[in-house]
Amino acid sequence: MEQTLSIVKPDAVERNLEGEIKEIFKNNGFQILKEKKIQIERSEAEKFYKIHETKPFYNDLCEYLSSGPIVVMVLEKENAVKGNRELMGATNPKDADDGTIRKKYGISIDKNSVHGSDSLENAKIEINFFFKD
Ligand code: CMP
Repeated sequence: MEQTLSIVKPDAVERNLEGEIKEIFKNNGFQILKEKKIQIERSEAEKFYKIHETKPFYNDLCEYLSSGPIVVMVLEKENAVKGNRELMGATNPKDADDGTIRKKYGISIDKNSVHGSDSLENAKIEINFFFKD
């Protein structure tokens, strides 16, 4: 069993899509082990997305993630990291396949409704970031 971090981003929480998105995860065999709805500070978003700090979109990205409530979840399933990335679809909703979360709900590359860890290594770091016990 593998765990990965999922975030329902501000654009999706704002449109009350949290419940629908959670149902999609459950219907695709994911167990939601932990979840919480929070709003993070800009400085926390900067830490979370530090991997992107040299990218031109870094500032907007951090501003956006801290702009409203988000739902952070630990998802569990076999091959959860890859499975979640497939279920989310391409980063840019325009390029996402039919049936994916970003195709269904994403508005733009920034407002793409969900985040998911991109590797098992980052999943551990990201889960620990939000759920330090
Ligand atoms: P996410 O999976 O949360 O990881 C980083 C985010 O940066 C990504 O989703 C996008 O929402 C956002 N982003 C904005 N512009 C780009 C870009 N050109 N390439 C990749 N990600 C981008």
